[in-house]
Amino acid sequence: MMKLPLLLFLCLILLPLSVTAQLRVGFYKSTCPRAELIVRQAIHNRFKIDPSIAAALLRMHFHDCFVTGCDASILIDSTPRKPSEKDAGPSLGVRGYDIIDEAKRTLEATCPGTVSCADIITLATREAVVLAGGPSYSVPTGRRDGRISDPSLVDLPDPSLSVPETLTFFASKGFTLKEMVTLLGAHTVGVAHCGFFQDRLTNFQGTGRPDPTMDRALVSKLLRICGTQPRSFDKDPTMFLDQNTSFVVDNQIYKQVILRKGVLQIDQELALDRSSAPIVSMFASNGRAFEQSFAKAVVKMGGVEVLVGKAGEIRTNCRVFNKKKHI
Ligand code: HEM
Ligand SMILES: *[C@@H]1O[C@H](CO)[C@@H](O)[C@H](O)[C@H]1NC(C)=O
Repeated sequence: MMKLPLLLFLCLILLPLSVTAQLRVGFYKSTCPRAELIVRQAIHNRFKIDPSIAAALLRMHFHDCFVTGCDASILIDSTPRKPSEKDAGPSLGVRGYDIIDEAKRTLEATCPGTVSCADIITLATREAVVLAGGPSYSVPTGRRDGRISDPSLVDLPDPSLSVPETLTFFASKGFTLKEMVTLLGAHTVGVAHCGFFQDRLTNFQGTGRPDPTMDRALVSKLLRICGTQPRSFDKDPTMFLDQNTSFVVDNQIYKQVILRKGVLQIDQELALDRSSAPIVSMFASNGRAFEQSFAKAVVKMGGVEVLVGKAGEIRTNCRVFNKKKHI
């Protein structure tokens, strides 16, 4: 007779616990004190030979967090039986998976089954941003890895959408216009395949002419490399998104779009749309404001729909879900 009230009582005291479970800085302090150091070392070593990893990790972090939350769903390999997020169109070109594997290997050797792949992406991104000249910031941890990676759930905006259309997407994830303009500042590093902006060079919106909002010299430069014919993705050349400081996390991308040198249409739109243009001007003239805003926005991105507490799992191999244990 006492069973039911007792159960109810337990539920009542445990429920708030599971609800309040959340990310915090230094989550691995006692369970894996060297966790952040191990990630830092792995990223340092790689950055020395390939500074383009800053761009790779920032994009990976975005694609992870904006599809079913920051749960490392982007890392799952597809199998002949089951395609994963990696197979979805918008995931094309996402790279850096091997860097995450490398950090994970060392972490598993040091503290097995402890540090989530979702946290590794987040920590690795911070290290890479710092190495690329961007701001440093504390990273709340404690994310768990998800058990879903489904290409049909990848619903990311197309680079040819307008600013208001793109904002609808960002707002649905809880972000403001200013935060969106800030996060798109990540295009201060990295590259895009010609296929993502080819229309702007040859046949913008069916006009048979280049996008009139793109600097003429840039049109010529991109045409020289990209040509006029579409190519398969693996043979498609890439161009820098930021035409000036292509490997530095700074506010140069905003100056570039003001000069009509945005490579992706959405980047250029930020400087042209009445709603976002003032924010672009402000970041272009105030590098400190951009850095502060960027650090805050990336931390916020890292908190989107996270799994915490006992939800999900800690993967042993970031590319495959753990085998279900038979109890
Ligand atoms: C409306 C939102 C966005 C659109 C439409 C968009 C679109 C794209 C496209 C088409 C590329 C080229 C990919 C390739 O050819 O391999 C790209 C690259 C990139 N994106 Fe975005 N992006 C968006 C938001 C973001 C956000 C929020 C971040 C990070 C905070 C980000 C970080 C990057 C980085 C760093 C690259 C370069 C990747 C590399 O060098 O491999 N993007 N983006
Ligand atoms: C390129 O960036 C550097 C460093 O921020 C700056 O000093 C220079 O004026 C920029 N050049 C152009 C053409 O924007």
